[in-house]
Amino acid sequence: MRRRTHTCGELRAHDAGKQVFLSGWVARIRDHGGLLFLDLRDRYGKTQVVIRPEEDSVLYEKASGLHGEWVISVEGEVALRPPGAVNRQISTGEVEVHARDIEVLNQCLPPPFPVEEEEIHPSEEMRLRYRYLDLRRSEMQEIFALRHRVYGIAREHLTTHGFLEIETPFLVKSTPEGARDYLVPSRVHPGKFYALPQSPQIYKQILMVAGFDRYFQIVRCFRDEDLRSDRQPEFTQVDVELSFPDIDTIFGIAESLFCKIFKAAWDVDLPSPFPRFTYSEVMAKYGTDKPDLRFGMPLVDVTEDLRDTDFRIVKEALEKDGAARGICVKGEAGRTRKQIADFEEAAKNAGLGGILPVKLTTEGVQGALAQHLSEATLRTITERMGAQQGDLLLFAVGAREETQKGLGALRLHLGETLGLIQPQSISIFWVTEFPLFEKDPVTGDLASAHHPFTGFFDEDIALLDTNPLAVRSHAYDMVVNGSEVLSGSIRISNPEVQRRIFSLLGINDEEATRRFGFLLEALRYGAPLMGGFAVGFDRVIMVLTGKSIRDVIAFPKTLLAASLMDGCPSEVDEKLLKDLYIQFVPPPDAK
Ligand code: AMO
Repeated sequence: MRRRTHTCGELRAHDAGKQVFLSGWVARIRDHGGLLFLDLRDRYGKTQVVIRPEEDSVLYEKASGLHGEWVISVEGEVALRPPGAVNRQISTGEVEVHARDIEVLNQCLPPPFPVEEEEIHPSEEMRLRYRYLDLRRSEMQEIFALRHRVYGIAREHLTTHGFLEIETPFLVKSTPEGARDYLVPSRVHPGKFYALPQSPQIYKQILMVAGFDRYFQIVRCFRDEDLRSDRQPEFTQVDVELSFPDIDTIFGIAESLFCKIFKAAWDVDLPSPFPRFTYSEVMAKYGTDKPDLRFGMPLVDVTEDLRDTDFRIVKEALEKDGAARGICVKGEAGRTRKQIADFEEAAKNAGLGGILPVKLTTEGVQGALAQHLSEATLRTITERMGAQQGDLLLFAVGAREETQKGLGALRLHLGETLGLIQPQSISIFWVTEFPLFEKDPVTGDLASAHHPFTGFFDEDIALLDTNPLAVRSHAYDMVVNGSEVLSGSIRISNPEVQRRIFSLLGINDEEATRRFGFLLEALRYGAPLMGGFAVGFDRVIMVLTGKSIRDVIAFPKTLLAASLMDGCPSEVDEKLLKDLYIQFVPPPDAK
């Protein structure tokens, strides 16, 4: 039998009378006594096939033995459906195919979950274990069709702007992006390892030294780090670098790319240019460097207002150089004690010691903190918080950073749980002037806030010796709906400055030469000024579809970095390890 003349989404009324061959999966079978209907599905849609027992009882018998997800070919004639039977929900709904023959190409084991029914939600474990069945669902097929379109937009956009697509190696010398490397042992050089790139960062800088001027690559990156809902151990970047850049050129290229993506996916015109906020601004106002600005509720610093209060918790915190901050939850003064206890629970999960609620009710101001405040102080605070009767104020006191980050997380939790976020709205902006360094929370040592090749403000150079944590970098992020979807910077292009940064990071000359000697050397052979960014491609698709990162990657890993479908990571043959001169030493706590 010929396998296919049309797809299952193709036939229309004007095809009536045509002899066709369709192939696909059996989506549904309904036996209406005198008539058997089956829906045949492929990526393009569904077509209704009709088998009449009185016309061909042998064919009817054959069709009755079919089951869901069997793969078949159908030969038949396209006919208009009777007027009452037209289905406007599907593209082929005006027609049906009257079957003349059916060939079973492959049977299907009883599927562990129905592919068709949208109301049935199999567990994620099942979906990942039988990923091919999960991906067969139209909802998933749409995600990957969108993903494909966005690759195309990125390629086309960057090509139009003169960027060359150049591949960089996967077996590399380690490129630091703050995570652990995945290592690949070398058979030819026993005891030596390649790293899988955490990003092509060093290589794209070297491409600039090589004079390519504008480079891009849609590339996989590999990072062995603790996974979260928006992180995968291997993920895709649209990686971009340009020579002699200025910030506005870089931002312009990225912004117009995002405008095209949102136009194609959501049919919206993003307001351009995107707003720019500094890191210190967003941290002070929202307690995070990637705030979701689809709702307000900014953090308000009330440290000075509460400086003289005799309320013990506040007094003690402020005496220890702490801070007091609050958020105003509009119209929620009517919350019960139990509901406020739930907010408190969320606050504790966000790292706060607790929260101090103040309700501005019609019966007056309620809350332990309020009783310790003068009327004037209360008025100043409520005015600054933009609060009115009916609002609920939540305050946190404690160490400065802790209250900022904790209240920021509580703000997001409230935004999500109180339904303050319109899913189809968009907040997109830049965060600039990140600090160049941060303190390693464990060792207290200086660490790069981004990666060690990030450039910094010339006017801050003196601070490198005196107060390095205050040095502002030329790093920037783009944030969409609370998700960091792009990150980049203007780089250091001077080898001596690069060495100096390494030394501040505790990487001495010897180590710098061992780890990054090839970059330092390349920088000595005529390096242009350079800068760029990488778009977190999976996160963009995640934002566009409102799905999890695992939904937008065809074969993702679980939070434990495992693939449930193929069962990796897995043991390998002893012989392979021997060839690589590798011996496994179990961890001390292994059974
Ligand atoms: P960065 O490490 O910030 O920068 O990565 C760039 C963007 O990639 C996305 N991203 C991830 N997505 C999914 N899973 C992960 N584990 C993951 N890690 C990062 C984020 C992030 O904004 N070389 C630099 C870029 C540059 O400076 O040009 C870099 O890789 O959306």
